[in-house]
Amino acid sequence: MRVEYNLAFKGFNATQARYRLAMGGAGSGKSVDVAMNYILKLSDPKYTGANLLVVRQTETSHKDSTFAELVKAINTMGLSAYWTYTTTPLAMTCSITGNNIIFRGFNDERARERVKSVSSSSGKICWIWVEEATELREADVDILDDRLRGKLPDGLYYQITLTFNPVSASHWIKRKYWDYDSADIYKCHTAYLDNRFIDESYSRRMEMRREQDPEGYKVYGLGEWGETGGLILANYQIEDLTLEFERYEKIVYGHDFGFNHADACLEIGFKDDEMYILRELYAHEKDMSEIILILDTMQVDKHKTMWCDSAEPDRIQMLRKAGYNAKPVKKEAGSVKAQIDYLKQHKIHINGGCLNTIKEIQQWKWKKDNTSGLYLDEPIDFQDDAMAALRYAIEEYRRNTKLKTFDRNMLGL
Ligand SMILES: Nc1ncnc2c1ncn2[C@@H]1O[C@H](COP(=O)(O)OP(=O)(O)O)[C@@H](O)[C@H]1O
Ligand SMILES: [Mg+2]
Repeated sequence: MRVEYNLAFKGFNATQARYRLAMGGAGSGKSVDVAMNYILKLSDPKYTGANLLVVRQTETSHKDSTFAELVKAINTMGLSAYWTYTTTPLAMTCSITGNNIIFRGFNDERARERVKSVSSSSGKICWIWVEEATELREADVDILDDRLRGKLPDGLYYQITLTFNPVSASHWIKRKYWDYDSADIYKCHTAYLDNRFIDESYSRRMEMRREQDPEGYKVYGLGEWGETGGLILANYQIEDLTLEFERYEKIVYGHDFGFNHADACLEIGFKDDEMYILRELYAHEKDMSEIILILDTMQVDKHKTMWCDSAEPDRIQMLRKAGYNAKPVKKEAGSVKAQIDYLKQHKIHINGGCLNTIKEIQQWKWKKDNTSGLYLDEPIDFQDDAMAALRYAIEEYRRNTKLKTFDRNMLGL
């Protein structure tokens, strides 16, 4: 068995400190490293009786992230003969050690109770991996911390692993762990440049970002604590949502075309003046026929309107030929600003599984004037493809509710 690590994680992989932090830019290798590291440990007879609890803000986001990463780690390390897993509920077991991996979220009170009462059929929960830890509240990480207590058999140890991007210098994780010196805290800092497995096109995208969005590059490129200012949308909530269309008043799709940029298509429900982003398609370097195949597999509803980027009528035509109810969105001067105004006034619920939409919304910012340091009235046009799809999806609503929006503005709401 040959395991290829990134050197930057050497000390991180070995430490038995109670708190182990991997902070870094996007694509710096954090998730892959932690997944491989835990699979190795959990498969090792030396650690029989140790179980891993994997935590994210929402339970639905595990399937395509942590769970997929752990399965990939098992396969690349040639251990698939020794691991079994189920997807409903998500769970994994190693046949060598009997060790289990359990997945949980912190979405609501019920989920919180499920974390408090979680236990393994064999052994103890010794290790907890909190992925995208900045999405959790401080009190929720304290709940996890409280779980790791009681005497352990010799050779086992308790540890919480936090993996995250340094999204904001005022984040509680910075105060509580990163800036705090203690033998119990091990800190590992990485950037995409530390990841020798990163592909060429990713490095090029990061270079582009350095020029177009220096603040974003600092956080997501270099992995340094960033600034909080200038975020466009804050009125969103990440949740586990139902995909039953009957529960919503209307369903529409928003589709922003792309090849080098992502092609992003969002499925959105509307109810009581609020939006529910249910599913996403998000793909790089796929041509339109490949995109259509993905939409087919997702079983996107061909009767619902799909609002598309009007700049590419050929692609709209292809979608229509394939049976989709694709229509162009009229673009006018000032429409981006007006769409953003509309989005700001309506609560946005995002399904935990829409990982790319969540990433984009968390970093969608206004441009900054370099001389005055003030934010401009124009978004940074970088990694905003799901946001474009979202803007298109609301167009019909926005145009029909202009009056209502106007009234609210007049009232100063
Ligand atoms: N040890 C590794 N072996 C092989 N590929 C790796 C390894 N570490 C990272 N990669 C590659 O780099 C990409 C980004 O790594 P990832 O762990 O997802 O970054 P992060 O979690 O820091 O955003 C992965 O999708 C994978 O292709
Ligand atoms: Mg990651």
